[in-house]
Order: sequence, then structure tokens, then C-alpha cells
Amino acid sequence: MDALKVASTPPFDHPGLRKNADGSYEADYVAQVFMFSPSKLTIPVGSKVTFYVTSADVVHGFEIAKTDVNMMAIPGWVNNATHTFDKAGTYLLVCNEYCGIGHQNMYATIEVK
Ligand code: CUA
Repeated sequence: MDALKVASTPPFDHPGLRKNADGSYEADYVAQVFMFSPSKLTIPVGSKVTFYVTSADVVHGFEIAKTDVNMMAIPGWVNNATHTFDKAGTYLLVCNEYCGIGHQNMYATIEVK
């Protein structure tokens, strides 16, 4: 996948949450300096979510605190990881790979309720 065409390549042209036929979810994320799209996601407690992530520019991290989701967002590549959210709460998605001046402000939230 061409990193320069992320914004026009499905499903990353419309980042966000999709429900699968079996009741699980797919969440498609784009990382770019210094934000994640979507910046906020709300999912029902108990949901099994597979996260797909790519980068539109440089290498970023994709770590969801309090879960085992920890991968890299790489330009030209799609990584994925699956987690079942058994506990309600607000989960912080952070970039854990230094990516520039705004690195420490690069995060998103996932609301589980
Ligand atoms: Cu993106 Cu650090």
C-alpha cells in the first residue's frame, strides 16, 4: 500500500469502527504526525475488536494501555492486533515510538461502556 495514498485507500479513507457479521468489530486507524484517526472510539463492553493500523507518514507506535495491544504503525504496511474489552472504562491509545516534536501529545481514547 502506498503511504502517500492512505487517505484515498479503503478502509483507511474512512477510519473508524465497523461491525462484522459475527458481532465482533474491526477498527481501522491511521497514524500521522501527531494524531490518530479516529481520535475517539466508543465500543460496547465485551466487544472483540481487531485493530488495523497504518501510517500516512513516519513510523509510529500503537499501544493501548491496560491491554496487550502494542504494535507499530508503519508507512506502506498494515499491522493488526485483536483484543476483547471485558472491562468498561476509558482506554488510552498512545504512540510509543518517537516520531517528532509532538510525539508526547500523540494519543487517542477508546471508551468502553
Ligand atoms: Cu507518533 Cu510518536
